[in-house]
Amino acid sequence: MTYSISILPGDGIGVEVIDATRPLLDDAAHAGGFELETTRYDWGSERYLEAGSMMPDDAIETLEPYDAILLGAVGHPDIPDHVTLRGMMLPIRKAFDQQVCKRPSVLFDGVESPLRGYDGGDIDFVVYRENTEGEYADAGGHEHRGYPHEVAVQTAVYTRQGTETIVRAAFEAARSREGRLTNVTKSNAQAHGMVFWDEVVEEVSADYPDVTVERLLVDAASMDLVRRPDEFDVLVASNLFGDILTDIGAIVSGSMGMAPSANINVEGHSPSMFEPVHGSAPDIAGRGIANPLATVLSVSMLFDHLGESEVARDIWRAVESQLADADAPRTPDLGGSATTEAVVEDIRARL
Ligand code: NAI
Ligand code: MG
Repeated sequence: MTYSISILPGDGIGVEVIDATRPLLDDAAHAGGFELETTRYDWGSERYLEAGSMMPDDAIETLEPYDAILLGAVGHPDIPDHVTLRGMMLPIRKAFDQQVCKRPSVLFDGVESPLRGYDGGDIDFVVYRENTEGEYADAGGHEHRGYPHEVAVQTAVYTRQGTETIVRAAFEAARSREGRLTNVTKSNAQAHGMVFWDEVVEEVSADYPDVTVERLLVDAASMDLVRRPDEFDVLVASNLFGDILTDIGAIVSGSMGMAPSANINVEGHSPSMFEPVHGSAPDIAGRGIANPLATVLSVSMLFDHLGESEVARDIWRAVESQLADADAPRTPDLGGSATTEAVVEDIRARL
């Protein structure tokens, strides 16, 4: 078996965590008895500053044939964030119909939550975030710039197909876990899109009588992810809400540096993309101290998606074993002083 993977390190610590994690891919292939063909594309902000675009014109055609994409992060202090995100990450998610974004939040043994009273294993939930439409649909306009009647309109878009896809994926996940789904919306204030969303959840729930559904407004959900994170199993939310909730999920389970994600093309006709939840972190970039575990766990999710579940599980367990080991190297975000590379080297040894 041979899998092809395109690697897009991107910017800032994205490059650091991807470069450090790269050898782990070969270890995994060796352990799992399969071949990997990888190609690295140095697209991102440096390219933008030189050539005026984050990716070449044929980027999507170039990536299409791969089995999966591994992405670091994009974002540069000298370029507006909407230019970098809309120039590289969002177009890939949209072009390849990566409608389902899966983001687990796990408090591992040996990791301290900033919240009091939680031990390893107490926090273990997964957010299913709609990933190609909603509030991040490219719908709207900005006119009469600089005049008193300047106007900006940003429209959220919810299609039946897109909404049903993410909702079904979340119900499936709940069924395979503890059977509890929290539907996070804001249907008291957004009476069109979010009420429609609630209706789709209601309809789909008929197919999942074994899953209990809780409804929360997003502001209350934000509070409850801090107040009672141990009570959640699966959450489903729109693009913007899911984006915000998963940063809360990342930090209550220890660090932004440990939160992985999968952007999944459900039908499998285009590649899915795996990436850490975090951004390019200019505040720590260039120092070799970024936590690579979000990327390592994203690699685990990548192999799981390709059907290499044993290798995926072994990588996940290597991370668990490292974090549970008080003498193992840790990056500064986890209170240690180890480098990005030292952490991956230790993971490779455990694998
Ligand atoms: P960020 O996630 O880059 O950083 C937030 C905070 O978490 C910073 O203090 C950073 O040092 C820390 N952090 C993040 N990842 C870490 C890691 N692996 N190890 C240790 N500490 C880590 O978010 P921020 O600062 O809002 O955005 C920075 C840039 O990244 C912006 O240009 C933004 O647009 C972009 N961005 C890109 C994303 C992506 O490519 N998926 C996601 C989020 C932001
Ligand atoms: Mg985000």
